[in-house]
Amino acid sequence: MRLSEREFRAMNSVFRRLVQRTVEFPIFRHFDVPVRGMDVLEIGCGTGYGAQFLLGMAPKSYVGIDLMPEQIALARQRRLEAAEFHVQDAADLGRFASAGIDTVVIFGALHHIRAWRQVVAECARVLKIGGWLYVEEPEGAILNFWELLFRWGHPDEPLTLRELRAELASKGFTIRRKRRSIAFGFYAAQKTG
Ligand SMILES: C[S@@+](CC[C@H](N)C(=O)[O-])C[C@H]1O[C@@H](n2cnc3c(N)ncnc32)[C@H](O)[C@@H]1O
Repeated sequence: MRLSEREFRAMNSVFRRLVQRTVEFPIFRHFDVPVRGMDVLEIGCGTGYGAQFLLGMAPKSYVGIDLMPEQIALARQRRLEAAEFHVQDAADLGRFASAGIDTVVIFGALHHIRAWRQVVAECARVLKIGGWLYVEEPEGAILNFWELLFRWGHPDEPLTLRELRAELASKGFTIRRKRRSIAFGFYAAQKTG
């Protein structure tokens, strides 16, 4: 679903960039998810800050998708020549062939998508066997608490990390690396089934 005005501002703030640079990107690097020479798809790419980071790791190709045209317009303004950006609902990845992608990256977007299970299924479809899905998401209970404080307008019943892990397993993913903080889960899962 679309971000509220409040969250749109927060997601495009200096504070958000700081968290990405100092917490999320180092964890991604530490997990050693294959990017160099790979065909990479980023789901919920926002304004392309993650794209800039991923392109620094020299993928063969990079495509970023996001539901919000405003986010994609800002991403395109970065003029990242090696990147392709599309307005696209992640619950339908029909524009991508089955088993054509090496690595899918999700920096905190599934908790915005009511049909998140369908997104996991689509990731499983578009990934090659042996391909990787990196996903980081907030824990549902924490999100409910934030909602009381910030009123960002998240879905009423956000996913729990336990549900996410179960869904990954049921769609043929094996979690190879994980990190848990009180508020967030970070997973690098490989398509094995
Ligand atoms: C919390 S923001 C995170 C953005 C960016 N990944 C970041 O780390 O700053 C979630 C993003 O998911 C996008 N989104 C929400 N629902 C979506 C959907 N169904 N398909 C694709 N993107 C979606 C939103 O537009 C938003 O840009």
